[in-house]
Amino acid sequence: MSETASALSDSEKAALKLPPKVSGEKPDSGHMEEFGVNFARFLMRCNAECGELAEYNMAGQQTVLMSGPAAQEAFLKTLDKKLSRAAAYQAMVPVFGEGVIFDAPPERMKTQLKIQVDALRYQNMKAYAAVIAQEVQDWIAGWGDEGEMDFLDEFIQLTLHTACHCLLGADFRYKMTDEFKSLYHDLERGLQAIAFVDPYMQQPIFEARDKARARLQTLISEIIAERRANPEREYGDALETFMSGTYADGSLLSDNEVTGLVIATMFAGHHTSSGTAAWTAVEFARNPQYTGAVLQELEELYARDGELTFENLRDLPQLEAFIEEVLRLHPPLVLLMRRVIEDIDYNGTLIEAGKTVAISTYGSHRNPTYFPDPERFDPQRPKASSADMMWAYIPFGGGPHKCAGNAFALMQLKSIFAALLPKYTFELVDAPETYEDDLSAMVLKPSSPCRLRYRRR
Ligand code: HEM
Repeated sequence: MSETASALSDSEKAALKLPPKVSGEKPDSGHMEEFGVNFARFLMRCNAECGELAEYNMAGQQTVLMSGPAAQEAFLKTLDKKLSRAAAYQAMVPVFGEGVIFDAPPERMKTQLKIQVDALRYQNMKAYAAVIAQEVQDWIAGWGDEGEMDFLDEFIQLTLHTACHCLLGADFRYKMTDEFKSLYHDLERGLQAIAFVDPYMQQPIFEARDKARARLQTLISEIIAERRANPEREYGDALETFMSGTYADGSLLSDNEVTGLVIATMFAGHHTSSGTAAWTAVEFARNPQYTGAVLQELEELYARDGELTFENLRDLPQLEAFIEEVLRLHPPLVLLMRRVIEDIDYNGTLIEAGKTVAISTYGSHRNPTYFPDPERFDPQRPKASSADMMWAYIPFGGGPHKCAGNAFALMQLKSIFAALLPKYTFELVDAPETYEDDLSAMVLKPSSPCRLRYRRR
């Protein structure tokens, strides 16, 4: 992308093309309706019709979809001052809190993101791996020899428990009341599509969201105060990292900012992980031919080490390839967005300031140039064999804002299935074609009910 885009003169702009427009626009709503029916399919239509750049209209907000590895690389690598995430995700501000991440001045936002990344780094990961292994064991302890469950519901619960435990510590996790779950639920409901139009409208869901945010801060402030009064204790959780992080002038984060980072990390990691775990279970049930190779490497691991650890979980290539293929076909974050802050010259096409730009992981992962016969589930297909491929396979994004939790997410998914697969087989309960991608919310997940039958091996 041209580095001189900000300096485009009127005559330079006049010499550039505009992005081709997608057909089927309605007078006021533009493409909103078609987008709402199944936005992943709509975005694939945009790309098929217009190519690398395709402009559509979301009730007045012009959005340019950028497709293909080169355009996706440009999107992901361009810095915030030109393509702003903050401006595109203002609906998150009342959820994360004022002055937190998307509402913080750039330097403070950078520090907050760095502290968030620190909490997900190697030094905490060992403790997280032990926590997750324990939570999984507690979860399957009562399963018996066989049964039937909705695995999406189950994984939503399990990953809520692991997230609370790793973020806020054991005390909070085991005292976690229904109150916490309902507060979190109210925050989530505050992110319905209308929040992206105006998150401050007079609406009961937004009032409930604001009450929940305030109450959550009270709960987290209580833990912070307790910990500050007992500085000798160590916790090994994310809250400890958030509480000890400092800005350039040495000042600590406020309780509001710490609460915001807890919520932001929870939102980034919870449904992305539960949806992927549920899809992984479904794909194991649908593709039993790949289970043998995974089981063999797990048998070797248990024979060698006896138990799962952070270190040995890193060395499970068959299981990892299986999960990566799940993430190709069912990437939880389908649509990534930025707001254009400065006019951009993208290879002779003008993308004007004020428009939104977007990329679709779902469409990219179904590009037959890079993924032949794209709907076929094949864990062995290459995903990083060339530079182009690196920008075609992007479940965790890329560039400066690449997912900060990808190592955590993969470790958690491997930990879950390394515990489940040697003990149980999985079968579909309903007809195979009824297990579909549900795109009704911001994060892709399997459609409900997501019933599977398990039997002890
Ligand atoms: C399968 C699971 C996951 C997937 C597919 C996923 C995907 C992504 C993607 C695509 C982005 C980039 C968004 C953008 O560029 O606009 C992202 C960012 C992020 N993710 Fe994840 N994520 C997952 C799990 C997690 C987990 C478990 C955590 C934390 C525990 C996490 C924390 C974050 C954070 C903090 C960012 C923002 C990074 C930044 O702005 O610099 N993610 N994730």
